Amino acid sequence: QSSTEIDISKIAPGQAIKSSFRKQPLFVRNLTPAEIAEANKVPLSELRDPQTLAERTKPGKENWLITLGVCTHLGCVPLGAGEGENKGPFGGYFCPCHGSAYDTAARIRQGPAPLNLHVPDYTFNSDTVVTVG
Ligand code: FES
Repeated sequence: QSSTEIDISKIAPGQAIKSSFRKQPLFVRNLTPAEIAEANKVPLSELRDPQTLAERTKPGKENWLITLGVCTHLGCVPLGAGEGENKGPFGGYFCPCHGSAYDTAARIRQGPAPLNLHVPDYTFNSDTVVTVG
């Protein structure tokens, strides 16, 4: 089984769930308008791994942020989705292993991780079902 179907219909704005994809943790987050605005106001020059929120989401569905839940430092599972409400100082995800903090677009902002949380290939089957992989 190489792809995974996810029902996103019950993920409220501001909520993130932890699912899995190819045995790795997968985060699915429904961003609020404020979280989208926060991501969009950050100059790319401030980013270690410069990417816009639009580049990390699908057109017209900028509120759906789908990433692996694998810290790009040494692979711990960051907090902020499902269990662990600690979103860290940039409001996205926080890796408790060595303190990497990700923003509301899951971009690395602080700590030792070199890269943003990875966005896997995915498609929307409908407004409420996503196939990852
Ligand atoms: Fe996440 Fe080191 S594994 S900060």
